[in-house]
Amino acid sequence: MPVRLLTLGLPADTLKEAVLTGLSGQPKRIPPKYFYDGEGSRLFEAICRQPEYYLTRAETALLQAEAEAIARCIGTVACMIEPGAGCCAKARLLLGKLEAASYWPVDISGEALSEAASRLSAEHPALDVTAVHLDFTAADGFAPLLPHLPATGRRLVYYPGSSIGNAGLAEAVALLKAFRTLAGADGGLLIGFDLKKEPARLHAAYNDAAGVTAAFNRNLLVRMNHELGADFRPDGFDHYAFYNPAEGRIEMHLVSRVRQQVTVAGVAVMFEAGESLHTENSYKYTPQEFDALAKEAGFAREAGWRDGEGLFAVQYYV
Ligand code: AVJ
Repeated sequence: MPVRLLTLGLPADTLKEAVLTGLSGQPKRIPPKYFYDGEGSRLFEAICRQPEYYLTRAETALLQAEAEAIARCIGTVACMIEPGAGCCAKARLLLGKLEAASYWPVDISGEALSEAASRLSAEHPALDVTAVHLDFTAADGFAPLLPHLPATGRRLVYYPGSSIGNAGLAEAVALLKAFRTLAGADGGLLIGFDLKKEPARLHAAYNDAAGVTAAFNRNLLVRMNHELGADFRPDGFDHYAFYNPAEGRIEMHLVSRVRQQVTVAGVAVMFEAGESLHTENSYKYTPQEFDALAKEAGFAREAGWRDGEGLFAVQYYV
């Protein structure tokens, strides 16, 4: 079946706007979604191959081992919607087992998405695939997509990869509420998240020995240099990532080595020596903590799975 491409909504807030807002605040911050330019996406894939970064391997192993049980638990669905599908790799692990009539990968990057969707469609000739080019982090969320979805049958929202970890608690509940609306009253949510564990293990995952995570973090500066005519010296900032147990999250920062002035999109920005640019939070949950968040959004847990090492969880909510 040929893949349909649906382009919806307006382009999201621009990099320039987000950066100038984030750099004028105290503390300085930039939302993590801006990590993923071409080089950032390549670096993230390289992170996933680092021995210390267990998340991707654990979730993949879990999905491979449990795909049949997961599919049985979910039952027949009219559509599977995957926000932030990227290269659709995690959908592959499920689609062989799941009884789904249609697959709707959603991503902010339209080009990479339609290519990945075409490849997946070739592997599942009977599956109806619609690639949706949409920024669901925009104010109206999934609203533009709703009228395009099948009018009957249950809908599954699939959100693997621990992407939910980037959201703060209020933000996570808001996103889960958007998933609730998207799934509909009789639909479900299959979501993956990283589990709380000993801080040393968490710390190592974001401080790999090869320095790939550090390069990923600094690439944000390189991206601003390319796209906003900024003059950041990437080696003028230290990669600093640590587990904050009080907040239950990994925090990633770029810490200025010296007092320095940088020009970004024509605006002068001052960094004190030791001042931080906060680039990412990655929240870790216990299964019960995640249940409480999901409950606030109207979801009840039906089932849950962990990988063999107990590092990562995938849970199903209705
Ligand atoms: C893509 C948000 C799941 O939080 O582990 C990896 C991103 N940042 N190393 C994560 C990331 C640094 C990743 N997520």
